Order: sequence, then C-alpha cells, then structure tokens
Amino acid sequence: MTIQRYFCQPGSVIGGELSVPGDKSISHRALMLGGIAEGETEITGFLESEDCLATLAALRSLGVNIARFAGNRVVVHGVGPEGFNAPAAPLDMGNAGTAMRLFMGLLAGQKFDSTLIGDSSLMKRPMERVAVPLRLMNADITTQNGTPPVQIRGGRQLKAIDYELPVASAQVKSALLLAALRADGRTRVVEPAPTRDHTERMLAQFGVEVLRNDRVVAIEGGQVLRGTRVEVPGDFSSAAFFMVLGCLAAKNGLTIRNVGVNPTRTGLLDMLVMMGADIRVRPKGTPEQQGRFTGEPLADIEVRASRLRGITVPESLVPLSIDEFPVFFIAAACAEGETLVRGAHELRVKESDRLAVMAEGLARLGVEHELLPDGIWIRGGSGFSGGTIDSHGDHRIAMSFAVASARAAGPLEIRDVANVATSFPGFVNIARSAGLQIDTV
Ligand code: S3P
Repeated sequence: MTIQRYFCQPGSVIGGELSVPGDKSISHRALMLGGIAEGETEITGFLESEDCLATLAALRSLGVNIARFAGNRVVVHGVGPEGFNAPAAPLDMGNAGTAMRLFMGLLAGQKFDSTLIGDSSLMKRPMERVAVPLRLMNADITTQNGTPPVQIRGGRQLKAIDYELPVASAQVKSALLLAALRADGRTRVVEPAPTRDHTERMLAQFGVEVLRNDRVVAIEGGQVLRGTRVEVPGDFSSAAFFMVLGCLAAKNGLTIRNVGVNPTRTGLLDMLVMMGADIRVRPKGTPEQQGRFTGEPLADIEVRASRLRGITVPESLVPLSIDEFPVFFIAAACAEGETLVRGAHELRVKESDRLAVMAEGLARLGVEHELLPDGIWIRGGSGFSGGTIDSHGDHRIAMSFAVASARAAGPLEIRDVANVATSFPGFVNIARSAGLQIDTV
C-alpha cells in the first residue's frame, strides 16, 4: 500500500542506534557500470528504492541480465561495451534525475535509438545541461524545450571534448565520463567546484584509468570495464535526517552506523559543526584496511542534542551538501539567530523547487524567513507551531518536516509523501526506532 501522509506527534524522545539503507548515487552507478562491464558484478548493500529500481528495470530493457537476492544483494551479468540491445519501448526513469542524466551519457554512443521519460516531476527538470556537451561530442539528442522526453539517435561515433561545466553538477560530469568511454580520444571535464566523485572512484574500481587533478577529470575512450564487487555504504543523505534529528532532540545521543563519508558528500557535517553541534564521526579505517570492495570511506556518526547557532553558509559547501539543504533549513530554524544560504540556485531544479517548497512549509510552521533567488534567510530559535505541510511529492521535503516534528508545539500532518520510497524505503520504521512519533495513512 502506498503511504500518502505522515502524522507526527510533537515532543519525541530521540536516541539509540540505527543504520540507514545503501547509498542511492552509488547504487545507480554500480548497476550501470556493472551493465557495461565484461563479467559479473556483485553488489551488496544495494538500495532497493524506486529510483534505483528504475535504473535496474531500464538496464534489463537494454538486455542486461540482473539477478536480485534477499538482503540487498544484486548480481549484474555485464554485457560489455557493445552488448546493449535496442529497448522495445521508452525507458522510464520514474522520479530519478540521476538515472536519466547518466543514461543520456551511456546511450549517446550506442548503435540504436532510445527515448527517456519519467514521472511528472522529472518531466519538468532541465536536461539540456547534459544534452549540450553530449552534442559537442557528436551525439544526436533532442529534448522538448529543455525537458524530457529525451530522444537519442544511435549510430553516432562520439569524439572526445574538453569541457568546462557551467554548473557544479555530479550528474552532468558523470554523464560525460560515461559517454567518454565510447569516444575517440581523451575527454577532459573541468568542474567549477568539487562535486561528488562516486563515478570517478567506481570507474577506477572497474579497472578504468581515470586521470584526476584538482578540478579536472580525464578519461581515454575505448577502455573496457571489468566486473567487480561493490559494497554500497549507508547513504549519507539518508543519515542526514537522523543527524539533524539527533541535534534537535537526542539528549543521550543517537548513533548512525556505517555511513558513507566521502568528503564530496559531507558538507552538512561541516555546517552543523559550525553551528555548534555535538557530533562525533568515528571513521572505520580505509576501505583497504577493512578489506572492503569500495573506494568509499565509512564511519559511525554519533550526535547529541545541541544548542545550535545560526551561520552564514560558505558557498563552497553548497555542492557538497546539495541534497541536505531541506533538513539543514530545519536545523537553522531551531538555531539561535540568523542563517543565510546563498549560491544555491540549483535547489530550484531538484525533485521540487526546494527553496520555494521549504519556504512554504517554514511559513506554515511560523518560522521567520526570507526566500531569496538563490537561497534563503532564516531567523531561528522560536520553534515550530503544529500544522499541515505539503511536500509537493518531494521525498526530502517530507522527511525534513518529519524531523521538525521533534521540536514542534503541536501535531504535524505531512502530505504527498509517497515518494519517500524513491530514496529511503523503510524511513518510517527507522524513524520510529529512533523514537520519532510518526504514523502513516
Ligand atoms: C547526484 C548528484 C546531485 C544530487 C542528486 C544525485 C548524483 O545532483 O542532487 O541527488 O548521484 O550524481 P547534481 O549533480 O545535478 O547537483
């Protein structure tokens, strides 16, 4: 049964220990790289969320044999660089922007035509940011005034480019690196600021030579991936809800185990520490020391109820915490004083316009704030009233306001929450185990 609404009671007592499901970005990539590799790839800790299952279904439509086992284990039988078959129908990416953009890179250099579609949110999201550089690589791609459906014509020989990304986007960077594998020559991508580097790390794990220097990544075309094992760490972006929840209400501490702490993802930790949060990160050793098959660092994160102070967020942290802003705004609303976020225009083109939708929800709960074109100003410290929130179908907005309920003066009803299953299946049960009083309808 699809869950439509959350009802949260105020004043939860938060604490204990928990772990969160596998990382979404890494799960998408493990499937895709496994699909184009030669040989078998075994993925453990795979995130069985709707977004990642859309990627899995699309790869099956392209002729990749993928076996799913109990306990989040998946085995991908790679078809090699030339092995995809033409899909019989448009490939449906659901709510998943990552899936659509990375598939554009994967499919641009194939022999066959393909069409990418998605749900009503994804059909409104910008795709030219990927199409423009892929066209420079000689791909033939059409969007509908910049948005999906994305039509890709096959049979084009891609050529390498030198490209400076106009936006700091790991999705665009990753799409170009995947296309680069099928291009003649060496493709160089320059980022305006560091973004998550899971693709680079994982390509190396699949045996690809990835040249990295500061903000430049380069790949020689024609390299063949070899199947491998991928152990997916807990998703930092899912742990983020519990990090903030712990800061708001865990008097005796809350521990989140086995979280991926790739430094290109952990901007929220820096921001919470700047606010005075009581957070301890206990690294679990390097992946090599642990004998793990992933290039990704892992840690336990322990957090305690803290007196937070408002901050001005350094713009350099924005790409490193891009998915965590909705829940960060909840922390800011509970912090003494003012918090200012600028340079975050990208939040307007996520699963929803996250600046506008968060501002609407904060207004509902009586939080003083000002919505800015590229950010938000929040005066914190006066708490949340009870009320009804519309998440506009955005999973991270829904979970953020569930966290807010721990410090609300009255009950919260959160509407349109079905999409939480796109990134965090089991959120409600895990939140309950931490003490959040949350019911569903
Ligand atoms: C992602 C990159 C980010 C992030 C998204 C996942 C990825 O998007 O918001 O949830 O897996 O590469 P952008 O790269 O477009 O900022």
